[in-house]
Amino acid sequence: MAPSATAHPLRGREQGNLPEDVSSFVGRSFEVKETRRLLSESRLVTLTGLGGVGKTRLALRVARDAQRTFTDGTWFVDLSELHDADQLAQAVASTLGLQDWSVRSPQSVLIDHLADRRTLLLLDNCEHLVGPVAALVQTLLRACLGLSVLATSREPLGIGGETVVRVPPLTVSAEPARAPAPADVPGGDAVALFEQRARAAVPGFRLTAENSATVARICARLEGLPLPIELAAARLRALSVDQLLERLDDRLRLLTRGDRTTPSRQQTLRLCIDWSYDLCTDREQRLWARLSVFAGSVALDAIEGVVADDGVDGDLLDVVTSLVDKSILIREEVDAAVRYRMLDTLREYGRQRLRDEGDPIALRRRHRDWYEDLVLRAQRDWIGSRQVERVSKLESEQSNLREAMEFCLGDPPSAASAMRIAAGLYEFWIVRGRFKEGRNWLDRALADGGPPTVERGEAMCVDSVLAALQQDTPAATVSAEEARQVAGRRLGPGRADTGDAAAVARR
Ligand SMILES: Nc1ncnc2c1ncn2[C@@H]1O[C@H](COP(=O)(O)OP(=O)(O)OP(=O)(O)O)[C@@H](O)[C@H]1O
Ligand SMILES: [Mg+2]
Repeated sequence: MAPSATAHPLRGREQGNLPEDVSSFVGRSFEVKETRRLLSESRLVTLTGLGGVGKTRLALRVARDAQRTFTDGTWFVDLSELHDADQLAQAVASTLGLQDWSVRSPQSVLIDHLADRRTLLLLDNCEHLVGPVAALVQTLLRACLGLSVLATSREPLGIGGETVVRVPPLTVSAEPARAPAPADVPGGDAVALFEQRARAAVPGFRLTAENSATVARICARLEGLPLPIELAAARLRALSVDQLLERLDDRLRLLTRGDRTTPSRQQTLRLCIDWSYDLCTDREQRLWARLSVFAGSVALDAIEGVVADDGVDGDLLDVVTSLVDKSILIREEVDAAVRYRMLDTLREYGRQRLRDEGDPIALRRRHRDWYEDLVLRAQRDWIGSRQVERVSKLESEQSNLREAMEFCLGDPPSAASAMRIAAGLYEFWIVRGRFKEGRNWLDRALADGGPPTVERGEAMCVDSVLAALQQDTPAATVSAEEARQVAGRRLGPGRADTGDAAAVARR
């Protein structure tokens, strides 16, 4: 029996999904207060600024503070890995845990759900999809009066009613920090951040009368930019603060070729990342670049499976650990499983390095193979006591699975893989109620014709079942018929049996 065509959130997900802080949050009391105030006056507030300046951290803090106001939930939607604008509304709906089995558009499902609710959506990293995000946000805000949106983007969305807040770097006071001052560090928030991260790198580190002036100078040289400060503080494992400042000065002088102009913030950011990269060993550099093929976060076994034979030999865990020590990778624990994540700015840098080495197609195909295998194994062992675990594993790999399918669609030799992955997720699409998304991938994989392969036949069957479950009988019938023809051409006349699909479609 087809489920009813209404959207409802998965149980236990009504209040939101704000992630836990992965490291301490520093300062920003003015920006937090101001952004909250603006959010109470304007239903769309966009935090803009340079990569790594702290937009996401600030937005999360504001959203957490505002949770009480938004009685129907506060939702964090990470858009950084989404490349296909057509999937935008679906991605938001999936994050909200909305299951909808009908053929209605994800946008109308969202409108229906949000119309009478008091909800905050935090749309993180909109810059690469500014136009489509702006269009969706405008439609949602018009139709859902209890909805507010807090967006982060390197550029504004550019729609009426948007309040733009430029996120400044952390404050660095002109006066060198006087130490020790545990509560309110006089060197400004930048020095406080440096101190915290330095303590994580070198447990006994403290601001003292001797080192505080140097620390304040380092932070001033880094213009209060949080990401460069974190990367620099991680260097204290190997250098004293004086050495750190000296080397930083040398680098900056080199950057401006000795003239008196100060580098732009963008240049400072780039320089700090270059510097971190240069100080990595060959193996760490290779791994940093190669990890950029993953999307979202990644587990160690996937790293081993995809990059182990690619010049990052030896004990991979050691190299991963040193990238964590250097603040290039963030270690996260989700349901007792350890995963690794890279900040966007650092991943983009890794991607560029990978491209500089040549076409990374072989690596991307290994990424594809690893995730295809994951899907096929999950499907083979679907029935069993570990099914719930498998579903949540596939859930945590969504970004990588989408990345793999997206790659396959642009790589003709991978066409069959796209069909196998999208069809292999059959049970997953069903238990998660993601019929629309499943059909979307299947339709794209099947779009350009191609020979009547087993993969094609199976993908059509799955497509047909998903359409039938959505009560889209015409589409289900077409897919089932096509599946039958593919099977007929492979097996000879009269022997085609497309099983479930045709049966469901005929109902
Ligand atoms: N107020 C803060 N307290 C502690 N850490 C911070 C703060 N602001 C930023 N950071 C740290 O600096 C790094 C960059 O911050 P964040 O990811 O928020 O930047 P962003 O502006 O969102 O960057 P992007 O444009 O690349 O998404 C992160 O590691 C973050 O934890
Ligand atoms: Mg961000």
